[in-house]
Amino acid sequence: MAKMTLDADLISEHHNSSLNAILDAVKSGAGRNLAEAETLPPQAYVSEAFFAREVETVFRPGWVCVAHVSQLPQVGSYFTIDLFDERLLVVRGKDDVIRAMSRICLHRWAPVAEGCGTAKIFSCPFHKWAFDLDGVLLGAPLMEGVRFEADGKRLPQIRTATLDGFVYVNFDGGAPELEIALAGFSASLAKFRLEELQPMFELSYECKFNWKIMVETFMECYHHIAAHPETFERDFPARLASVDDGAASWTRGTSHLRPALADDHLKIGLPLLSEHLTAEEHRAFYMYLAYPSQLITIMPDRVYVFRSQPRGAALTSLQVAVLARPEAWELPNYQQLCAAEKAFADRINLEDIAVNTLQQLGAATRSATPGVLNHLEKAVWQLADYIREKTASGPSVD
Ligand code: FES
Ligand SMILES: [Fe+2]
Repeated sequence: MAKMTLDADLISEHHNSSLNAILDAVKSGAGRNLAEAETLPPQAYVSEAFFAREVETVFRPGWVCVAHVSQLPQVGSYFTIDLFDERLLVVRGKDDVIRAMSRICLHRWAPVAEGCGTAKIFSCPFHKWAFDLDGVLLGAPLMEGVRFEADGKRLPQIRTATLDGFVYVNFDGGAPELEIALAGFSASLAKFRLEELQPMFELSYECKFNWKIMVETFMECYHHIAAHPETFERDFPARLASVDDGAASWTRGTSHLRPALADDHLKIGLPLLSEHLTAEEHRAFYMYLAYPSQLITIMPDRVYVFRSQPRGAALTSLQVAVLARPEAWELPNYQQLCAAEKAFADRINLEDIAVNTLQQLGAATRSATPGVLNHLEKAVWQLADYIREKTASGPSVD
């Protein structure tokens, strides 16, 4: 009886770890080779305090991909997105430059825009203060007679940069230049001309699991065995997959078609992304991760882009867009191809989301412990090491 009480106390302590204890457990897995690799401790997927630490040390200092340029096709195109306690407005300005800024009115904090569309100005729905596409305050009605000077007032700007057709934001303003940070990633993707692609469709999901679970699942093919038996495993078996050694800011996995299947098996009949695909690129798809969370799958004739909005330790909004060459829209059977791909993408995503939702519940139990990783899960280890390094760099906590 005494022993049972002792065990229960230990387990309870493990489950309700302080942030300090979680950070120690996270750090303890660092510096290993792949043969000894383990996941992060389960508390790193469950704890709101650890999520807050990730926001400060991983997301705000880094580059976070928020869009593909096709979402902002012309001057005045805008969309809104909420990330890490900021409510952002992303706009293509009169000078054709894409900018992200806070969309919270300078008067009394109402959002000056919601959703997406095209605008000439942004007019606050509360008291009609007006802002131009750069966020500069144009006018404020009935403010005569108060100590108020409209000149020079502007919605707070967030550092924004565009590379290879993707729009990134850096919240704290201190990240290295994007072209330098993602130089190898960009070079590896150049031949696919991602900046020219157009969206076929987009799917949205509210995921009741940690953002890392989403990234890890995207990047490993081990789970084809059980989570996708009738879809991926049949044609792209787990055992044929591989993961690169990776670079400081990104990594890549490859999933190969079964040798017995024809070269065209992976294509759905859309124009190829490049006339210069290698023999391997006709028969494999490539999963790219730019840390912490930008995910792209390259197939011979289409591209999957996963955009996530981590909202808390166990809540992640996910948008999946599938992009294709603009010439695809001229195909007589484009609508059928698009509908079939949308159904396939939704099926695959729901297969992942079902198991990931259960996985999150498992991580929250008192019995959960770090798991052993195999070579197919190399990117899980690589992301874990990235998180270990970044979260260790923040201020110490009591
Ligand atoms: S809150 Fe925007 S004008 Fe008052
Ligand atoms: Fe999957």
